[in-house]
Formats: sequence, structure tokens, C-alpha cells
Amino acid sequence: VTVDREDLIKSSWTDNAAAWTESVRQKRIASRALVTDAAVLAAVRARTPSRVLDIGCGEGWLCRVLQGHEIETVGFDGTRELIERARAASPGLYHVLTYEQFADNPEAVGSGYDVAVCNFSLLGEDIGAVIRGATEVLGPGGVIVLQTVHPCADLPDGCRYEDGWRMEEFGALGSDFHTPMPWYFRTVGSWIRAFTAPGLDLIECAEPVHPESGQPVSLLLTAGRAAKAQ
Ligand SMILES: C[S@@+](CC[C@H](N)C(=O)[O-])C[C@H]1O[C@@H](n2cnc3c(N)ncnc32)[C@H](O)[C@@H]1O
Repeated sequence: VTVDREDLIKSSWTDNAAAWTESVRQKRIASRALVTDAAVLAAVRARTPSRVLDIGCGEGWLCRVLQGHEIETVGFDGTRELIERARAASPGLYHVLTYEQFADNPEAVGSGYDVAVCNFSLLGEDIGAVIRGATEVLGPGGVIVLQTVHPCADLPDGCRYEDGWRMEEFGALGSDFHTPMPWYFRTVGSWIRAFTAPGLDLIECAEPVHPESGQPVSLLLTAGRAAKAQ
């Protein structure tokens, strides 16, 4: 059942926290180094924000880069082991908070954000409550930026193009990842529907590609509160 899988997602991040931090900080994930780090950074900076909320910030790389551009950041993540590493690496504000806790009380992380960003951090089936929470802490004209693995990236032969649970073994990241992670696959249409369901208008839908192969790497969506709700 869904509840068990959501718990397994969380425990996998606790178990893999050290290996994940090494992979990110040593830039071992080629798609990030080549494509997706720059893509999400450009999408956030395109809004010329003063204040950014990083949802599921992990070990905090994006907050650190944004701080380097004089942008105020707040990051939160459910994995204490990752937040401790984020705090040790930069002076920004970081909270240990699960998406469920955030959805119950979004203002626990403050408000008035120009951008709330989710970089590869929405992994479960129900993302509506997190998106709704993010919407509540945006300032006027604020947007949510979401980057996820492109549904057509590495789609195995014979794999149906439809929503459903999959398993990530982290095989490409080396043997230090001990715990596989269930994650919820969505089609492009499903991502857009889930992202805009809490009454958001889609502002941008980008699909960054690998510079050499031309294959899609990620899906990068930007949305803001529907005009009538502002
Ligand atoms: C692939 S990592 C991405 C981390 C970071 N955004 C980055 O770009 O490196 C996914 C993150 O989502 C967090 N996460 C997953 N489910 C969560 C939940 N229910 N509540 C809070 N954080 C969660 C994990 O702890 C992990 O840090």
C-alpha cells in the first residue's frame, strides 16, 4: 500500500545519506553536472528572486549556489542526516521537516517566497498536499519550480508509459547505496495535472536534453497561482 512505500522512500534517504552527499558533492551524477543543475538554477534565477524555499533540499547544494548569488534561502527535508550535512556546509536556514508536516503547517518554514523549488524531490504518489503548501507560502507573483527525471529518459524496453510505482536501485551511483527506493513514475501529462491541480497556471514546461545524445534528461515545470486567485 501507498503508506508503506512512502515510509520506504524516507528510510532509503536516511540509509543512503552519506553516499548521496558524496555523489552530489563529488559531482558523480553526470546528468546533474551536464544538464540539470544548470537548468534548475536558470529556471529559479529567471524569476530574479530575493527569497527561495528549497523543498526536499537534501544536503543543500542548490541553497548554497543560490546564496552565492545573494539570494536568501530556506531549505527543508525530512532526512535529518542530510539536513545536518547541509547545516555544516553553509550558514543558510535549514529545517528537518517531512512533506506531511509541511502540508499541515506550511508557514513553519516562513512565507513570502518568490520561488519554491522542488529539485528531484517529489518521489511519492500524492504530491498535491506539498504543492498546495508551497502555494500558501509564496509571496505576490511567486512561482513553484519543479524538476523531475524526464519520463522518457531511459524508459526500458517493454515498459509501459503509464503512471505507477517503480524501484530505483541506484546501481549507476555505485555500491555505497545500500537501500533501494520506491518512486512513483508519472507521464508528462500526469506531472502537469498533479502540479497544477492546486489551482496553479503552468508558466513554463521545459525538457532539457543531453548535449551530445539529444535525449531528454529532465522535465522542468514552472507554475504560479492562477490569475483569478492572486
Ligand atoms: C533526489 S533527493 C534531491 C535532493 C535535492 N533537492 C537535490 O537536488 O540534491 C530527494 C530528497 O527528497 C527528500 N524527501 C523524500 N520524501 C520526503 C518526505 N516525505 N518529506 C521530506 N523530505 C522528503 C529526501 O530526504 C531527499 O533529500
